[in-house]
Amino acid sequence: MDENSHNDLEQVRREYSLDQLDESILPSDPMVLFGAWMERARQSENPDPTAMTLSTVESNGQPSSRIVLLKKIEADRLVFYTNYHSRKAKEIRSRSRVAAHFYWPELERQVKIAGMAGPLEDAESDHYFQSRPLESQVTAWASPQSKVVPDRKYLENEYRKYQEKFKGSKVVPRPAFWGGFAIIPSRMEFWQGGLHRLHDRIEYTLKKKHWSRVRLAP
Ligand SMILES: Cc1cc2nc3c(=O)[nH]c(=O)nc-3n(C[C@H](O)[C@H](O)[C@H](O)COP(=O)(O)O)c2cc1C
Repeated sequence: MDENSHNDLEQVRREYSLDQLDESILPSDPMVLFGAWMERARQSENPDPTAMTLSTVESNGQPSSRIVLLKKIEADRLVFYTNYHSRKAKEIRSRSRVAAHFYWPELERQVKIAGMAGPLEDAESDHYFQSRPLESQVTAWASPQSKVVPDRKYLENEYRKYQEKFKGSKVVPRPAFWGGFAIIPSRMEFWQGGLHRLHDRIEYTLKKKHWSRVRLAP
């Protein structure tokens, strides 16, 4: 690798020009707009349109981010699944404020969400768990997510152990330490890239069950 090849990042840029946001024709409910944007993203070439960066807060106030996959959009909540002993789950249980972020480069769009998260009812997690491929179900049992493990071999052995345990069973039960969280958004910003960096930003805020919206400068 050329020793300077990572030093030309200042030259990496592109123009954004695909679309514009006209607030006079945007829905008054941002979850409706979000659903429509997700449908567009699913039709694009993006291999992970449902991937979102989920940020939680550590006890000392330090933000902590990672990607998770969005699994459901409902009228007032967004659902994802994870290990309830993971770092993110512990952080949500002690501080429920979260941020979620989507970037769809093919559409020159991002959505920035702030809200509160909490665990789903067991029945809802059970239902989703049963829809997952068998291998993913076994991995949910085998992986002590976010814990330090000795090496890869340990994980492969754990996988084999649970594979053996559930061999011949009709269903793999959901581990009690694995399930969903729902995010209830209270702020949602829709960003559409614009020519000459004159991007469109429309921010919706929920107050007393009513969404209002403003335009922000790019
Ligand atoms: C494309 C992609 C999708 C992922 N989807 C999930 C997911 O849906 N749930 C999950 O727990 N981790 C998912 N991960 C792994 C997380 O990013 C993370 O490594 C893991 O959840 C542990 O995070 P934590 O230690 O901060 O709790 C995904 C990672 C990538 C890159």
